[in-house]
Formats: sequence, structure tokens, C-alpha cells
Amino acid sequence: MNRQNGRAPPASATCSRISACRRALCACASSERGGRDIGLPNHDNAQDTGIPEPLVPATDAPSHHPVALVTGAARRLGAAIARRLHGAGYAIAIHCHRSTGDAQALSDALESTRPCSTLVLQADLAQFDRLPELVARTVGHFGRLDALVNNAAAFFPTPLGTTTPAQWDALFNANVRAPYFLSQAAAPHLKASRGAILNLSDVYARQPRADLPAYATSKGALEAMTRALAVSMAPDVRVNAIAPGAILWPDEHGDDALRQRILARTALGRVGDIDEIAATALWLLRDAGYTTGSVIAVDGGRDPV
Ligand SMILES: NC(=O)c1ccc[n+]([C@@H]2O[C@H](COP(=O)([O-])OP(=O)(O)OC[C@H]3O[C@@H](n4cnc5c(N)ncnc54)[C@H](OP(=O)(O)O)[C@@H]3O)[C@@H](O)[C@H]2O)c1
Repeated sequence: MNRQNGRAPPASATCSRISACRRALCACASSERGGRDIGLPNHDNAQDTGIPEPLVPATDAPSHHPVALVTGAARRLGAAIARRLHGAGYAIAIHCHRSTGDAQALSDALESTRPCSTLVLQADLAQFDRLPELVARTVGHFGRLDALVNNAAAFFPTPLGTTTPAQWDALFNANVRAPYFLSQAAAPHLKASRGAILNLSDVYARQPRADLPAYATSKGALEAMTRALAVSMAPDVRVNAIAPGAILWPDEHGDDALRQRILARTALGRVGDIDEIAATALWLLRDAGYTTGSVIAVDGGRDPV
């Protein structure tokens, strides 16, 4: 049942397929768990539908694969990171907010190469209660957590003099508060797996753009959080960040002159490829055993715009 409104999430094809996978996981461990479907709430009513009560972690039925929870994983950079991690053997909890169709399509594509290796979770990260639930449901489904990727972010201009408290809250809830409380909820599971956290920052945290002061401040806070949590969670859990430059232009705000200015100040003279972010993400999460509290620029060599 939905904890907030007492309604059960709607049944869907996703529910039955994921339930079958979940039964398979249980069967592997000869241990039947629960009977609750892990469903995909109705996209059209994201505020009212939502995540059922947290599941009890299935410590007796852990996945044989490492498990990553990737926020904002339905599209763009998040999807590229999810695909790269999945290709490296991770099972993926694909978090989405509004892009439920894209999340399901990504899940279907990944499942076609390795069944029972994904879980789609929908939540508005501005809703505080959803944050520990996302972690609980990932661990409830897969039995472990090895990586948390705080990729989801809000991005919009807030010229100084026009910024409203609601805009500030939207940016900070998605870009700072959610990563912090997801990390806090994930900490015991990551400690058990000696896992890692990856935060997606932005070149604008250190080279701010004039029309993005609140966004740049939120990403600066995320970088401070990366260093702070690296200390608080050491030595068991590593915490790092990537600061991308121009990789994918925003869907909106199509300002060609600005794009040309950005490229003119990029030493490599081109936008980055999403796979260049995804490869760095995999390296930081899996291979960079002596790296924590670092913010890795993947920006083609950027000067301030
Ligand atoms: N693209 C670039 O070139 C670039 C450059 C520098 C830094 N970055 C950083 O890299 C990361 C990924 O970039 P991107 O361009 O792929 O990001 P994006 O498309 O702007 O956003 C990624 C996802 O975040 C989710 N999201 C936003 N607000 C949310 C909320 N309140 N609750 C839940 N989910 C929410 C959205 O999910 P739904 O679609 O499901 O609603 C969205 O698809 C971000 O952290 C971004 O700041 C990107």
C-alpha cells in the first residue's frame, strides 16, 4: 500500500515481470520473501501514487551481481551510466521521476541481455520520505547495495534579483538534500559491501555562469558534501564526484550563441560524449580503490564562460 494515501499502486506488466524475477531471486536462496509487488506507480499522478512501504532487506537472498541505484536514470547521462554499469555486471535500480516510459524501455533493453537485473523505481526526490524508501526497496529487491549514483538534478536559470525561495528549494532539494539523505540511507548497506557513492556535479560549481547562481551554489554544496561524506564514511565507503562540462545540451534553453561561446572556451573544442562520463563513473565506482573525496573534471578543459 502507498504509505501516503493508502492506495495500492496500479498493477502493470512491470509488476508481474519484476515479481517473477523477485521469485527467482528468492528461489535461488531457497527463501520465500513477502508477496508484495514492486510496482511502477502511475506516471500521470506522480504526487499521489508512489512507492509502497519499505521492504525488509532480503539479507538471505543477495544478488550475485553488484547492485547500483542510479537516480534520474531513465534518460541522457543517467541512462548512459546505468547501461555502462549494467554492461560491467551490475544489477541496476533505475530511478525516474517523470520519464517512466523511458525508464521502462531502458529496463526492457537491459533485461533482454540479462533477465532479472533491473528494477524501476519512481519518485520525486523533493519528497523527503521517498529517499530512504528508494534505498530500502533496492535492497529489499536485490538484497544488497554496492553503488549509489546521485545523477538526478534540477537545472534552470535564476538570474540574481529574480530568484524565488521556491526555485532555490527546487534546486537544493534535488541537487543537495536528496543526494545527502540517499547517501545517509545507503551508508550501512554500502559499508557492508565496501561500496561507493558517485555524485554528478558540474563545471559550473567552480566556474559559475552569470545566469545560474542558485544552480551553481547547489553543485558547489554537492562537491563540499562529496568531500565531507568521504571523510565521514571512510574507510569502508568511497565518495567521489564527476564535474562534467558540456556533454548533452539541455532539452530546453537552446541558445546557439551561448553554445558556441562554451565550445570556444573548451580546450578540446567539442562537446563530450555521454560514454566518456559513463566510463569515468564505472572507474570511480569499481576501480578507483585509492580515490575518495575527489571531484574529477570531465569537461574537455574548460575556461570560465
Ligand atoms: N548534460 C550535461 O552536459 C551536464 C553538464 C554538467 C553537469 N551535468 C550533471 O550531470 C547529471 C546528469 O545530467 P543530465 O543533463 O542527463 O540531467 P537532466 O536530464 O537535466 O536530469 C536528469 C534527471 O533528473 C531527474 N530529476 C530532476 N528533478 C528531479 C526530482 N525532483 N525528482 C526526481 N528526479 C528528478 C529527471 O528525471 P525524470 O526525467 O524521470 O523526471 C531527469 O531526467 C546532472 O546531475 C547534471 O547536473 C550534466
